[in-house]
Amino acid sequence: MTIEDMKFIQNFKRMTNDAWLKGWHERNGGNITYRLTKEEVSAIKEFINEDSEYNSIGVTVKNLANEYFLVTGSGKFIRNMTVCLGENAGIIKIDEKGENYKVVWGLSNNARPTSELPSHLMSHSIKVEKTNGCHRVIMHSHTTNVIALTFVLPLEGKVFTRELWEMATECPVVFPSGIGVVPWMVPGGAAIAEATGELMKDHDVVIWAHHGMFCSGETLDLTFGLMDTVEKSAEILVKVLSMGGKKQTIVSENFRDLAKDFNVSISEDYLV
Ligand code: 13P
Ligand code: ZN
Repeated sequence: MTIEDMKFIQNFKRMTNDAWLKGWHERNGGNITYRLTKEEVSAIKEFINEDSEYNSIGVTVKNLANEYFLVTGSGKFIRNMTVCLGENAGIIKIDEKGENYKVVWGLSNNARPTSELPSHLMSHSIKVEKTNGCHRVIMHSHTTNVIALTFVLPLEGKVFTRELWEMATECPVVFPSGIGVVPWMVPGGAAIAEATGELMKDHDVVIWAHHGMFCSGETLDLTFGLMDTVEKSAEILVKVLSMGGKKQTIVSENFRDLAKDFNVSISEDYLV
């Protein structure tokens, strides 16, 4: 058995390949991180090297102290994750203070974790607190239709949520807590990490204007499915707008009926 035979690694490879095939990850665009379970950490012990040096994360994530994450590498192509994972991704460990990380497996040839590590870890930190540790995955993708919409819709979470809910009946069931929108910001630093984390307190989907999307979920499958659902809805909206706009739609009362039958709670804020 090698580390690459493990189920979570196989699932990660399948998800990265699916995401590449979707067209969400040109060149090195996008990045994915997964927080290992205790069982997975024990199972990888014989394959990892804890002697490496700590590096600064750039943000403080106290509640992630001593956690292990599988992370894609900076400048690495999502399409290559299935070709050689150890060169394109790695496993990192967070220190006692939640301020530094070290590479314990992979990221060979001095590769570094994604430049969006601050945004990923800040979002993980918020989600660990908000979901009692249930959420384990953060995915950032350059989803074409969502990006296109950030050039024509007002950059308000309420507007994106309502418009995208209307494009597919099951959307409010898949992302009942709606969408947050970060205005254009320089990627890769602490400022965009703070802005994203703030919106992750209330949403599982955060759009970065003119850049892409961040999704949070319990499993790799659920997070991929969330990204896919939002992006598909955005594709329908782009088509509807291209055909001259809505002539009829799902109305607030329909959403209330849906919420009742599907047993989800959706905020009246989105139903005015
Ligand atoms: P990385 O190659 O550093 O992961 O950056 C890609 C990206 O999408 C930046 O937002
Ligand atoms: Zn990006």
